[in-house]
Amino acid sequence: MFLARNPQLNSNGELHHLLSTEGLPREILTQILDTAASFTGVTQREVKKVPLLRGKAIFNLFFEASTRTRTTFEIAAKRLSADVINLAINVSSQSKGESVLDTVANLSAMQADMFIVRHSESGAPHLIARHVSPEIHVINAGDGRHAHPTQGLLDMYTIRHYKKDFTKLVVAIVGDVLHSRVARSQIHALTTLGVPEVRVIGPKTLLPSHVDKLGVHVYHDISKGLKDVDVVMTLRLQNERMQGSFLPSPQEFFKLYGLNAEKLALAKPDAIVLHPGPMNRGVEIDSTVADGRQSVILPQVTFGIAIRMAVMSILAGN
Ligand code: CP
Repeated sequence: MFLARNPQLNSNGELHHLLSTEGLPREILTQILDTAASFTGVTQREVKKVPLLRGKAIFNLFFEASTRTRTTFEIAAKRLSADVINLAINVSSQSKGESVLDTVANLSAMQADMFIVRHSESGAPHLIARHVSPEIHVINAGDGRHAHPTQGLLDMYTIRHYKKDFTKLVVAIVGDVLHSRVARSQIHALTTLGVPEVRVIGPKTLLPSHVDKLGVHVYHDISKGLKDVDVVMTLRLQNERMQGSFLPSPQEFFKLYGLNAEKLALAKPDAIVLHPGPMNRGVEIDSTVADGRQSVILPQVTFGIAIRMAVMSILAGN
C-alpha cells in the first residue's frame, strides 16, 4: 500500500517543517513538550540566552495581525541567539503586487534559514514549504481556519504542566470551532496525546459538520458539555472569517455559551480555563473567569516562548 509522506517530516521521520499538529506522531509532540520544559530554566535565568541558533537568520512573515504569536516567536528566536528579521508586510513589496512566493524567493536569496508564516489563506505555509530549498525550514504561525500548531502545542504544554497525565482527562473546547484554526490543532494534539474524551460545545452554526469524525463528542447544551470536565478551552467568535450571519447577536452568544462563574461551576472544582487570545470579554468569557483563580491564560503566553524555542531548535537540528 502506498502511504503519502508527511510533508513535515524528513526521510528519517524527523520534523523538518511544522505546518500542522495533524499527522504528527505522539513521539514528536512529546519531544517538543519535553524540549520546551528544558528551556523553561533558560527563560528564568538572569541572562536568558543560549547559543543554539547563533548565526541563523529567521524571518517573521506575518501577513495577518498578531500580538502573542509574532512577539513570542521573536523573543524565542532571540533567546536562541538567532538573528530575527520582522518583515513589515504593509510596507513591503507585497503592497506593489509581489506574490508571496516571489517575496519568499527573494528572502531566501538573503540566506534565510527559517520562515515563520502567518497568512489569512489556509495552506499558504504549505505552499511556501513546497517551494523553499531543502535546507530552509517553515513554521506555520496560523493559516486561515486551517491550523495553528504552536498554539495547539503551547496549550498541550499548559495542560500537562497543570494536570500531568493526558490519559485521565476530559477536555472541553467551547465556542466558534467552525472558524478556528486553534481548535483543529488542539483536537489533533489532544487525541494523539491520548486524552480519552474531547468535547466540543457550541451552536450548530459554529461547529463543523461531521466534527465527530475527528474523534470528539458534540454538545450544543453547555450545561451538559461542561459537566465534570478537567480543562475548558474557550474560543472567540472569529468574525473576520465569517461570511453571513451565524448568530443572533454577541449578547445572545454570551448568554448561551459565554463562560461565566455559574457555568464554570459545572466543571470539576480544580478545572483550568484556557484561551488562546485575543479575548473578547463579555462575549465568549466573563472577566470573573478570565481573571479568576482557575484561569491559566497568561501562563499560556509565557509557555509559548519555551514551545517556540523548542520547535525552532528541533527544526534547526534536523
Ligand atoms: N493566539 C494567537 O494566535 O494570538 P495572536 O493572534 O495575538 O498571535
